[in-house]
Amino acid sequence: MTRIAIIGGTGPEGRGLALRLAMAGREVVIGSRDPVRAADAASELKEGREGLAISGAANADAASAADAVLLSVPFEGLRSTAESLRSELAGRLVVSIVAPMEFADGRMRAISVPEGSAGELARDLLPESRVASAFQNLSARDLLRADRPLEGDVAVCADDDAARRETIALADAMPALRGVDAGPLANSRYVEELTALLVNVNRIHKAHSTIRFLGL
Ligand SMILES: NC(=O)c1ccc[n+]([C@@H]2O[C@H](COP(=O)([O-])OP(=O)(O)OC[C@H]3O[C@@H](n4cnc5c(N)ncnc54)[C@H](OP(=O)(O)O)[C@@H]3O)[C@@H](O)[C@H]2O)c1
Repeated sequence: MTRIAIIGGTGPEGRGLALRLAMAGREVVIGSRDPVRAADAASELKEGREGLAISGAANADAASAADAVLLSVPFEGLRSTAESLRSELAGRLVVSIVAPMEFADGRMRAISVPEGSAGELARDLLPESRVASAFQNLSARDLLRADRPLEGDVAVCADDDAARRETIALADAMPALRGVDAGPLANSRYVEELTALLVNVNRIHKAHSTIRFLGL
């Protein structure tokens, strides 16, 4: 069974992905700067749900025991988190789900990243890891509604072909989601920025939209 660690997995997005990946039969370790907080988040997700393989651990322990690692910290914590876990993440598939955004003047807007995108920053900070970027367009609220199917496409960017393929397989493992090859990490900025548009559209329409590529 593939073991997946989620760094910063105590937040809503990480918990939502943990739940969906565990429901898809993966073993998930929620990581946190505080192992007690990680264990509490894991217990909460498993409550009333038989057979889900979710546990909690300190970020470093979660990362070093995993086949694949999702980075689910806020953009402002990405650099320090990646730097502090560089050795634990070496040689592993690392998937950034970070969408750099801020709320200002009544709407969400994307934060511009000097490296191009959070995915490219993660790649630059983790030269010994195989870095991909994905899952930014799935909202935590939808991920956590386990009784509802999660439909949509997951645009996956990576410079490494195997990293892209493995991340697409991770998305495909979740029923009704489809992983889509979205090319190199240079494309990640468009996927990340689209998240701000989705949040704004959802606010306008009081809805839960996500993306689907027509014609593929
Ligand atoms: N929320 C959404 O709907 C959504 C949608 C698309 C993409 N995303 C992306 O997914 C990521 C996680 O989103 P979220 O809403 O779950 O975030 P969050 O709740 O703000 O943070 C997630 C976890 O990261 C850890 N953390 C917070 N600040 C940190 C720092 N400065 N350094 C290291 N760790 C820190 C915390 O865990 P501990 O204190 O337990 O360590 C926190 O529970 C973000 O990058 C966001 O852009 C979110």
